[in-house]
Amino acid sequence: MCGIVGYIGDQNTSEILVNGLKRLEYRGYDSAGLALINGKLDIIKGKGKVASLEKKLKKQSIEGWLGIAHTRWATHGEPNDINSHPHLSQSGKIAVVHNGIIENYNSLKKQLASKGRTFQSETDTEVLTQLIEEIHENGNAPDFEGALQLALKQVVGTYGIAVINLDEPGRIYVARKGSPLLLGIGENEMFIASDASPIVEHTKKVVYLEDGEMAVVTKNDYQVKTIDDVDLTKEIHELALSLDAIEKAGYPHFMLKEIFEQPRSVADCLRGRIRTDSHTIQLGGLVDVMDRLVEARRIVIAACGTSWHSGLVGEYMFEELAKLPVEVEYASEFRYRDPLIGEDDVLLVISQSGETADTLAALREAKKKGALVLGICNVVGSTIARETDAGVYTHAGPEIGVASTKAFTAQVVVLAMIAIALGQRRGVLEDEYAGRLIDELNRLPDKIDKILEQSEVIKKMAKLFTYAPNFLYLGRSYNFPVALEGALKLKEISYIHAEGYPAAEMKHGPIALIDEMMPVVVIAATDHTNDKMISNIEEVKARKGRIVSVTNDENHEVKELSEFFISIPSTEDCFSPLLTVIPLQLLSYYIAVNRGCNVDQPRNLAKSVTVE
Ligand code: G6P
Repeated sequence: MCGIVGYIGDQNTSEILVNGLKRLEYRGYDSAGLALINGKLDIIKGKGKVASLEKKLKKQSIEGWLGIAHTRWATHGEPNDINSHPHLSQSGKIAVVHNGIIENYNSLKKQLASKGRTFQSETDTEVLTQLIEEIHENGNAPDFEGALQLALKQVVGTYGIAVINLDEPGRIYVARKGSPLLLGIGENEMFIASDASPIVEHTKKVVYLEDGEMAVVTKNDYQVKTIDDVDLTKEIHELALSLDAIEKAGYPHFMLKEIFEQPRSVADCLRGRIRTDSHTIQLGGLVDVMDRLVEARRIVIAACGTSWHSGLVGEYMFEELAKLPVEVEYASEFRYRDPLIGEDDVLLVISQSGETADTLAALREAKKKGALVLGICNVVGSTIARETDAGVYTHAGPEIGVASTKAFTAQVVVLAMIAIALGQRRGVLEDEYAGRLIDELNRLPDKIDKILEQSEVIKKMAKLFTYAPNFLYLGRSYNFPVALEGALKLKEISYIHAEGYPAAEMKHGPIALIDEMMPVVVIAATDHTNDKMISNIEEVKARKGRIVSVTNDENHEVKELSEFFISIPSTEDCFSPLLTVIPLQLLSYYIAVNRGCNVDQPRNLAKSVTVE
């Protein structure tokens, strides 16, 4: 989704801004632009990729000592040159970049139009820009900063903004409500960004803004305050992120790199948390809330997208291993229906980015109602990580590919660790089984490696299905969520229509679609449902569907029934998703590459969905 970069200092500003925008490309966007001050205010922007902005800059080199830049993911108004950010005020003196949505932009626009203001674009951002100028020009505020504060108070909705004013050529103003922003502190230079990736190559010192806060940033200094003008002293955080982690390391795409990183990311996620000698699990982030978790009446899991799928796996795990009732909710549905949740409940939110707007809103709703709110996040210091009562980081490292892969497996590993620890504390998990599970967790990285060794086979298989118009994915029990995830991966990056179903439900609809054109991916790797899966495979074959199976090495029956199979090492049923999902990620990846799709930045999708 939209990204912001800002810079003030002695380096080549446009170069820093463009490189920063490139680091933000992974978030998904449709247009890019920048504004610079150097005696005058110059803007270059337009529909398309950062590379085309770079080309424009080569033709029409502009320089400045400070600037703001933006990648836009359209919300109000189609992606075109005019709707791209930055937006200018009527006088041409104020430029704004904005992430988020101004919900009352229509009524503000009417008021501003009645005062003679005219608008170039269809965006809510231009309305905010004009509002700031209107308040400033009419003397309704003591100074420009006051005008910005007054404007922000009139706005309903969410924003992360950066504002520059030609009359104050040494300052960048930023403000945040619901859309992340951070400051990077350099030597005689300051950076601004919507996430840490554009900053990490310049400085490790960052200050995170919270909702309701703003900052006035100059070359050598910054002052953070509330939008009510109360000065704040903020903690300076040290970024743990490394530059290597956000580069491709020789892989053609981030997604492939991230798929292949999974043996390591799963190991990193487990590191220091499992004790094989005592067969115990230590989750530092949950120590203080463990008693309340053990006593909980139920756990509600709220998440979106792939994280919702890992939540579904978690449901099976918590119910089997900890004997705790679980409900899994789409965060967007949970928050809007006055959910019945209270002090005896735990809301567990799962989010790779830690910034997803609906997940954040679900968290706030449950907190208001007194529930204990826990989080599983990948991005350290993200808003969700900061607002939850306690939580566990996945430590999967930065995930840049829009389609989530290593974050999913790390989330499932964290869920497994919580479920085992909880089962032990609640006295419902037999010691022998717990021990077996903990030992097996340690073996998973090697087993994932074994699956990745088959990537060439999967690549060949992908060739045969590259132009299939539809796919059906079937799974049962722990592998039902994997069927959903496999289908989601395929549609996200290859644009092939795909559906995931619990295998038994196939007879209640999808079976009508099966013919010789329809690949059916069957995930048959959980022992206790194997016979039933075999019956489902027979039903598909009887209708000439093409069976691709993901099954255990020794499951000869399923292999014989399949046109193609991908063999995976055996594991405990509850860990099966951690292995079965790997070939499905690769299958989607190779199909998408064959179809010439932009794997890392699929059309219309965003990595971090910060609007509701
Ligand atoms: C977007 C991404 C998905 C992700 C979902 C939830 O749709 O494209 O890959 O699963 O958001 O994101 P989160 O950061 O909350 O896990």
